[in-house]
Amino acid sequence: MSFLASSLSNIKASPTIAVAMKAAELKAAGKDIISLGMGEPDFDTPENIKQAAIAAINKGDTKYTAVDGTAALKKAIIAKFSRENSLEYKASEIIVSTGAKQVIFNALLATINPEDEVIIPAPYWVSYPDMVLLAGGKPVIVDSSAANNFKIVPDALEAKITPKTKWIILNSPSNPTGACYSAAELKALADVLVRHPQVHVMADDIYEHLIFDNLKFATITEVEPKLKERTLIVNGVSKAYAMTGWRIGYGAGPEKLIKAMSVIQSQSTSSPSSISQAASVEALNGVQDYIKTNAKLFQSRRDMVVSMLNKIEGIDCNTPNGAFYVFPSCKGLFGKKTPAGKAIENDNDFASYLLEEALVAVVPGVAFGAPDFFRISYAASEEFLNNSMQRIADACAKLK
Ligand SMILES: Cc1ncc(COP(=O)(O)O)c(C=O)c1O
Repeated sequence: MSFLASSLSNIKASPTIAVAMKAAELKAAGKDIISLGMGEPDFDTPENIKQAAIAAINKGDTKYTAVDGTAALKKAIIAKFSRENSLEYKASEIIVSTGAKQVIFNALLATINPEDEVIIPAPYWVSYPDMVLLAGGKPVIVDSSAANNFKIVPDALEAKITPKTKWIILNSPSNPTGACYSAAELKALADVLVRHPQVHVMADDIYEHLIFDNLKFATITEVEPKLKERTLIVNGVSKAYAMTGWRIGYGAGPEKLIKAMSVIQSQSTSSPSSISQAASVEALNGVQDYIKTNAKLFQSRRDMVVSMLNKIEGIDCNTPNGAFYVFPSCKGLFGKKTPAGKAIENDNDFASYLLEEALVAVVPGVAFGAPDFFRISYAASEEFLNNSMQRIADACAKLK
């Protein structure tokens, strides 16, 4: 009998973290590795936020807080939803967790019974299917196409809904593709969902503020209020405020669900860090101007990266409207041989080749349920990105 739980047999460590670790290992061995695998802004946390944390420490805000978050942070979150999304919530409809990741995990653990199905559009964030499996559920993948900018269409969604469907997870702007659904596109999906009352919606809005080309961010309950009573919005401070290491995420949804999630949290991690919560109050209530400035900067980096990638023969890259990822196809290079004579047969081979030949770490698309592609994070300086794209171009030119 195995010592390890059978629930682990179908899941793996996060492939994006695995790539980062492999790159760090090679770096430690003295190789000049460039990693484009990271999922975090390269900026430092803004000064006002750091100072709020220091003030919290000095004030003695260093004890456990209420499991589901401090009153001050819940108030700031409620104000954020009202100000930015025209959505009104009560404190009992909000939970604060150790990262958006824990919000999602709590929600799945709180609701999934064996055989319950969770619809996940592909390409997906690596953690969704594995979290569903850990909770004992069944991930059901809906494919999208690069031609439709990696967005699912209503008919494809409806075809996957069964009486056992408990959730659909929508992530816009998306990791890994940067795809953003417009309000009209969300409304078309909502029209399907309204007809299936057993389906709950998890709207992962963590990249809300990283949106370009003057597109307006929309979340599904804003465009279809009928879904509010069965939607959990997941968000957090990690990406918008360059606070990935502070580990604060939050969820907003029906009171019954939030209460159940809070019970799970009370028996696992208890409250999130008191200091990080104080910092997050300042993040949400303080000045917000740098968010737009950062989005502009990311947009110009995106333009540079997309343009350099599309000059490489065999690579084809869409122009995404959000997040800080591009998701190019490398299919045009399949069948070619490396200078060492090895054939590139898939995205894994291509990513391994880039790591060995160009010393550039990218994440193969198969990790996101989309073989033939690879993900590049462009959360890095222009000089760094320019150098990386050049290395990729040089390595590709050596494929024959
Ligand atoms: C789509 C998506 N959702 C959630 C998260 C988790 O964010 P947090 O750092 O708040 O746990 C990430 C982080 O990479 C993400 O890409």
